Amino acid sequence: MKKWYAVIGDPVSHSKSPAMHEAWFRENGIDASYIPVHVPAGTVGDAVAALRRLGASGWNVTVPHKQAIIPFLDEVEPIAAEMQAVNTVKVLPDGRLLGMNTDGPGFVRSLEDRIGSGRKNDRVLIIGAGGAANGIALAMRHGGYEKVAVCNRTVEKAEALCNRIGGEALGLEEAAGKLGEFGIIIQTTPVGMSTATGGLPIAMDHLDPGAVVADIVYSPLQTEFLKAALKNGNEIVDGLGMFIWQGALAFNEWTGRMPDTLGTRKRLIAEMEETTC
Ligand code: ATR
Repeated sequence: MKKWYAVIGDPVSHSKSPAMHEAWFRENGIDASYIPVHVPAGTVGDAVAALRRLGASGWNVTVPHKQAIIPFLDEVEPIAAEMQAVNTVKVLPDGRLLGMNTDGPGFVRSLEDRIGSGRKNDRVLIIGAGGAANGIALAMRHGGYEKVAVCNRTVEKAEALCNRIGGEALGLEEAAGKLGEFGIIIQTTPVGMSTATGGLPIAMDHLDPGAVVADIVYSPLQTEFLKAALKNGNEIVDGLGMFIWQGALAFNEWTGRMPDTLGTRKRLIAEMEETTC
């Protein structure tokens, strides 16, 4: 029987996941499809029961359900439980539902695609302390990056995150003053997204040109933050890699195959250029 997968969220119609996964099924000769399912806040329990009954083989979970779905699953992997966020559900052979998180690990893969795995001793600064920052901070720690600091507009949220992961919490101005001490800088706020107000989340005057500068925003591909880093001579990592890798790790969990992430990046960039022309 043809297998099927889904992404559940609200909003979900803009998601690039269905086209990406369907292309991967075709490329890998797998007879399966992947559909977006609009699930409003507060109804994720009903959605899980329906997906289970209708025989979905797995699904991705996006805003606002990543935390809310947890009580409706049979099992949650330790890293996802620690993050309190699930973005991938796998239906096990016995029908039980396993919750996983490939967002943070996807970021680490996209970073290491660019810089390899030889910079684990660098000091890491994460800008922002929301859901995305939380997942990335934990995945960086699990990936062997020991020296992680978090700065945030609301410093109390950075403190709460650091209490859990054991890092240093900073305010934005304090972090800007110390920016030169960090070898890897990761921007996780919506500042710079095409739908949000532009600008920089943090002043970049003290940026060390040897640092790697990453942004998880991928629309636009080069945020003002990344443009400023490029101008300073820094190596940059845009947010498209994290998007592709979170999907690739989910696809691998579902099918046992690893899709062509490089080819996917080229195709998505070509599509983005088409829509902005
Ligand atoms: P996500 O799940 O995408 O991380 P979130 O949990 O709402 O989203 O977190 C958004 C993060 O971006 C927060 O760290 C937020 O800072 P506050 O905790 O102070 O709200 C940060 N953020 C949002 N808009 C910002 C802005 N204009 N300048 C600086 N930080 C901003």
